[in-house]
Amino acid sequence: MASILFEGLGKNYGETEVIKNLSFSVNDGEFMVFVGPSGCGKSTVLRMIAGLETISAGQLSIGDRVVNDVHPKDRDIAMVFQSYALYPHMNVYDNIAFGLKIRKLPEDDIRQRVKAAAELLGLDQLLERKPKALSGGQRQRVALGRAIVRNPSVFLFDEPLSNLDAELRVQMRAEISKLQRRLNTTTVYVTHDQVEAMTMGHRIAVMRPISGHNPLDTNLMQCGTPMDLYDRPDNIFVAHFIGTPNMNILPAMLSDDGTSIHLFDGQMPVSDEFRQAALAMRGRKVMLGIRPEHIGAAHEVDWPLTQTVQGKVEMLEPLGHEAILHFKVADHILVGRLHSHGRLPAIGDTVSMQLKCDAMHLFDPVTEQRLR
Ligand SMILES: Nc1ncnc2c1ncn2[C@@H]1O[C@H](COP(=O)(O)OP(=O)(O)O)[C@@H](O)[C@H]1O
Ligand SMILES: [Mg+2]
Repeated sequence: MASILFEGLGKNYGETEVIKNLSFSVNDGEFMVFVGPSGCGKSTVLRMIAGLETISAGQLSIGDRVVNDVHPKDRDIAMVFQSYALYPHMNVYDNIAFGLKIRKLPEDDIRQRVKAAAELLGLDQLLERKPKALSGGQRQRVALGRAIVRNPSVFLFDEPLSNLDAELRVQMRAEISKLQRRLNTTTVYVTHDQVEAMTMGHRIAVMRPISGHNPLDTNLMQCGTPMDLYDRPDNIFVAHFIGTPNMNILPAMLSDDGTSIHLFDGQMPVSDEFRQAALAMRGRKVMLGIRPEHIGAAHEVDWPLTQTVQGKVEMLEPLGHEAILHFKVADHILVGRLHSHGRLPAIGDTVSMQLKCDAMHLFDPVTEQRLR
């Protein structure tokens, strides 16, 4: 096992800067998820850890060794990709054993390791099969087996579940989490899917492209536990990226004394967390974030401090246990939640909804950072 330390890591392809100022660490035995939109550099960083991309700036350490110039095969890492890259002419056993044979391990040792991995992954009855006779989930398990038998210090996963259907994805998500807990191997897992990130990661690193609009000088927007990111997003990007449906982000104005917020036609008191910061920003514009579960119908919620907003229903998404309500207030579409067994409004109806005041998040409209 090993920790991974990023110190000011950077990557350029020719003139184009893709990764900038990446500084953070993955702890020994930790399951770290890199999440962010397509093109933000997740695979690039993973490939830098694996040694498949050169490092343009900064320093990368695995354990207590700087690995910037260490050959991939000497990094003691196993990688699992989205495309399983199984050898079609080899059976399951030989696919799993392949890396060990290359490394010329003794035949007995190989047999033992493949057997143990196959049992762990429920592949013991399938060792003679060729990949084409396996389901998608079974193929993905073979790819996992190939990584496990190496007994590496670090597992790297690059969107390993993207090719699976929704049901299998949920199942494999749980299997990989269980496997990681059992093996306790330091793991970096890349995905663009924030639900995968929330459900699998001990911690999550949220990334964003360095090019285009990015108020920070790095790809790393925030690194923390799933609930840290959910409850206290550092900036608007993380606030919007983590959570479904997305957080509502609305322009608002702090009152001249900094104790309340003008939102639409109403006023809401500044919550305790932001009291100091709001005083410093009094009379100025802010961005107010509020999650859909904190916007509810008056007869369905029991919140001590609320502001009422009225709007016109634009869309309803009944999900069974609840309905997602999209309603229009002034020029903004807000998203809230209704208990679906209550009477649901119709499109075009006027609804009166409650905002839970102490659940607000406030951000600086220019820097996009959480007010502190
Ligand atoms: N070999 C390459 N040459 C030039 N640009 C590249 C190369 N590989 C990736 N990129 C660019 O680097 C950025 C990050 O890519 P990537 O790490 O694959 O993102 P992600 O995995 O988050 O989708 C993208 O803009 C991509 O076009
Ligand atoms: Mg990628």
